[in-house]
Amino acid sequence: MTENALELQQVTQAYRKGHPILDGVSLSVPKGQFVSIIGPSGAGKTTLLRLFNGMVRPASGEVWVEGRRFDTLTGKERRQVQQQVGMIFQDFCLVEESSCLANVLNGSLCRVPFWRVFLDRFPRVEVEQARQALEQVGLAGFADKPAGELSGGQKQRVAIARVLVQQASIILADEPVASLDPGSSRAVLELLRNLQKTQRLTVVMNSHNVEQALQYSDRILGLRQGRVLYEGPSDIWNEEKFRALYGRQA
Ligand SMILES: Nc1ncnc2c1ncn2[C@@H]1O[C@H](COP(=O)(O)OP(=O)(O)OP(=O)(O)O)[C@@H](O)[C@H]1O
Ligand SMILES: [Mg+2]
Repeated sequence: MTENALELQQVTQAYRKGHPILDGVSLSVPKGQFVSIIGPSGAGKTTLLRLFNGMVRPASGEVWVEGRRFDTLTGKERRQVQQQVGMIFQDFCLVEESSCLANVLNGSLCRVPFWRVFLDRFPRVEVEQARQALEQVGLAGFADKPAGELSGGQKQRVAIARVLVQQASIILADEPVASLDPGSSRAVLELLRNLQKTQRLTVVMNSHNVEQALQYSDRILGLRQGRVLYEGPSDIWNEEKFRALYGRQA
């Protein structure tokens, strides 16, 4: 049996009562796969990712992360699961005035005692890990540079290094290359794909670029008006499915 990294069972989510954004969604993301979620604006893609990092809780249904029921967890156990889930965003979410190394070290906050963070005295092993993560994403010489001085593509790679230091097993990427030029987009997507393959990370990416989603993913999930319209391997995607997903909404 395939192990699932992420699972939703009959999840309904509403920001306002009576207006479901996700409407009875069930899905599973097998461990170690690259899955892209596509679909029109407002379909609920970002909301769906937020269920998996605990930023929103479902009104009904179940959320499972790495084999554990997540939506009902509280306290330390909830934080343990959250630590497994790294997030990267379209706008990178870096501290621009801090160095790249400091930004990447933020990924270790869950392990480092508060007083060390407060005094900026991270354990040497954590600093070494952060340097290695920067190297892994191709930014070895950038440790001391303020993040704000980097290009968009480089910033996204710092954000990925931060997730690596977090030791997350799952990366949720909400339109990670939407602000990048084609060359930088390719570099970031290839990096994500490479990490997924070599480190058996699970990657779930929201995207408006169907071509990129098809190129880099194992599976595609089409979301429309809060419902899963299509879920399957990326190589059997076709024009008919595209029309059904993006055709005029009722
Ligand atoms: N915090 C919030 N409070 C109230 N409504 C929200 C909130 N966040 C999102 N929504 C609404 O939920 C719906 C789905 O939003 P969501 O951001 O999940 O869509 P999306 O598929 O990610 O869209 P896009 O492709 O534009 O990013 C939209 O109608 C949006 O207005
Ligand atoms: Mg979104």
